[in-house]
Amino acid sequence: MKLKPARSITGLLRLPGDKSISHRAALIAALAGGRSEISNFSTARDCASTLGCLRALGISIEHNDGKIVFAGSQELVAPREPLDCGNSGSTLRILAGVLAGCDFTAELVGDESLSSRPMRRIIEPLELMGARIESTEGKAPLRVHGTGRPIPITYKLPVASAQVKSAILFAGLNADGRTRVIETTPSRDHTERLFNGFGVPVTTNSDLSVTLDGPARFTGGAITIPGDVSSAAYFVAAAMLLPQSELTIEGVGLNPTRAAFLSVLSSWGANVETTDVQVERNEPYGTINVRGGIGGSAAESERTLGQSMIPSLIDELPLLAVVGSQIDGGIRIRDASELRLKESDRLATTAANLRAMGAEVEEFPDGLSVSGPTQLNGTLIDSHGDHRIAMAFAVAALLAKGETEITGAECVAISFPEFFGLLESLAER
Ligand code: S3P
Repeated sequence: MKLKPARSITGLLRLPGDKSISHRAALIAALAGGRSEISNFSTARDCASTLGCLRALGISIEHNDGKIVFAGSQELVAPREPLDCGNSGSTLRILAGVLAGCDFTAELVGDESLSSRPMRRIIEPLELMGARIESTEGKAPLRVHGTGRPIPITYKLPVASAQVKSAILFAGLNADGRTRVIETTPSRDHTERLFNGFGVPVTTNSDLSVTLDGPARFTGGAITIPGDVSSAAYFVAAAMLLPQSELTIEGVGLNPTRAAFLSVLSSWGANVETTDVQVERNEPYGTINVRGGIGGSAAESERTLGQSMIPSLIDELPLLAVVGSQIDGGIRIRDASELRLKESDRLATTAANLRAMGAEVEEFPDGLSVSGPTQLNGTLIDSHGDHRIAMAFAVAALLAKGETEITGAECVAISFPEFFGLLESLAER
């Protein structure tokens, strides 16, 4: 993919449904008693992986008038073939939780990137709940020998991970008693919100624990998935960095455990506001308005991202590093070693690509320091097959001097197949 610099990002945007919410809505609809209809389901290849796995588990899923329809009251059955999770960590990890609570054996497989990512973080709690999981040194493929009646556990998460929290909560649906997950830092809470929205009470307590009383079954129903706020982030950042921009994004998810990048960008001088906030099945959504330009300069404390902020910014950190290269005084990211365990080592791939464009970057085991402001230069960028790296550097390309070429850019389809088309339609040159 070749990209030329742009003058502004201007227009009105509506985005396909949020990837994290879509995975969970599909799993809930598959397990629910009663019919469910999902509108604005994510177009991400990752979410197609979740639907493919559910079909292989015997769930019939129909596409009707742009909606995805689940008949409801279906039972999962042992799959005849391995369940292909593709590139999707959420599919593999959360589905492992579902399977831990089933009374059959199933194998979960993924692509090369997913097969290199750590799975002990789900194996340990799910085995404590009574499942047995075979792995290759803690990595996929995983053979999950489910237990029809999981043991309810109290489990303190060693790393902040919504996928691990969700795996335990899905397994807890079939447990006889109270499942309790304790977080040290809050991670995205879509599972909690949607469980409550579909008739399974989950309580979030002041000590950061989340509890669920099993056994419990969802009630089916309709949901319209809010637009993906992590996809919106690339357009918001591009509009901020190109001074003549005027951008409106409607119907986008504004869950505070996901939308934290908006307040970070505001603190760095962005003109961003949210309006028309409404709620769908406990998930807030609304309109984001951005006017181009960076107003004022941010204090050093605001230019350092660390500790409790990291989980709610986790997928936006490569993009924030790109934005940081344009901020007076630059930015620092710390306490983010989890980024090394994503679809690529995102600290290394972000640092290497920013340097290739002429930015000054220091890499730490748990973060980055990016100097700014810097004039970026167009060059050859390696996405490493990582959708968030490809999209973050597409934004960088709009600011750069000269043309940028991104290799492996088709990987954006993992979360956002429409990305380059929409970017071109809004970019004024
Ligand atoms: C996700 C949780 C995060 C995030 C990923 C999606 C989810 O991963 O990075 O893109 O849907 O729960 P971790 O749970 O590993 O932090």
